[in-house]
Amino acid sequence: MKPQVIFYIFFFALLISCGSEKSVDRETFREIQKSTEIKKVNEAELVEFAMKWGDQISAEAQKSLVETLQKVIADRGLAGAVDFCHAEALPITKEVAEKHRVAVKRVSLKNRNPANAPNDMEKNLLEAYAYNLAQGMENQPNIQKLDNGEVLLYTKAIVIPGGICLSCHGDPGSEIEESTLAKISEKYPHDKATGYKAGELRGMWSIAIPRKEAIRNM
Ligand code: HEC
Repeated sequence: MKPQVIFYIFFFALLISCGSEKSVDRETFREIQKSTEIKKVNEAELVEFAMKWGDQISAEAQKSLVETLQKVIADRGLAGAVDFCHAEALPITKEVAEKHRVAVKRVSLKNRNPANAPNDMEKNLLEAYAYNLAQGMENQPNIQKLDNGEVLLYTKAIVIPGGICLSCHGDPGSEIEESTLAKISEKYPHDKATGYKAGELRGMWSIAIPRKEAIRNM
């Protein structure tokens, strides 16, 4: 290779590397800018925002689940809908979670899917919600700070309104049809989610919001 050609290759490589260094610099600058903004956020505003955002995310996930459930029941009947929930309930909540970069769960003390069992913190909150309901008190959503405030845990009680929910979560003798019950036992051999009555606590939404995601969206 002629020395001239080598020079051009070298020069070109230098140009490329300079270009990318410049954009890295800009990125770093933006990061620094963002982190100084973080310091200006006040804790009360952060909690207030997490509460509003949690309300929005849980409503969005709930809507997505209920709309899909109604459609599937109309198309395939209740037993068919159990199959569908088995395959799709978790992916539906996951989709909402990924969209907002948070973690979304529905947990219950008497859960159907073992993946929806609560952790210790969630268990305490569920017990508090159940206690309040039993005392006739209305449950408000709640925010708990976890990991030294790095995570804001939003929770919201899910109460059984009655109606269609009882066709799959009500009394196995009278409210749940044989074919539905058979499908539930097939898909969920450790099911604990029957025997509910209207007005009882079915579970809760549990949404773990990373502090930095809340700040990014404020
Ligand atoms: C067609 C039957 C069916 C109907 C109707 C139904 N569910 Fe479920 N439900 C299921 C199945 C199946 C699961 C387990 C989903 C999974 O695998 O994640 C479930 C899970 C849940 C969970 C998550 C906790 C757990 O037990 O695993 C909650 C909360 C819940 N249902 C509430 C309701 C409410 C409230 C209604 C009424 C609006 C309702 N369900 C109607 C079948 C049904």
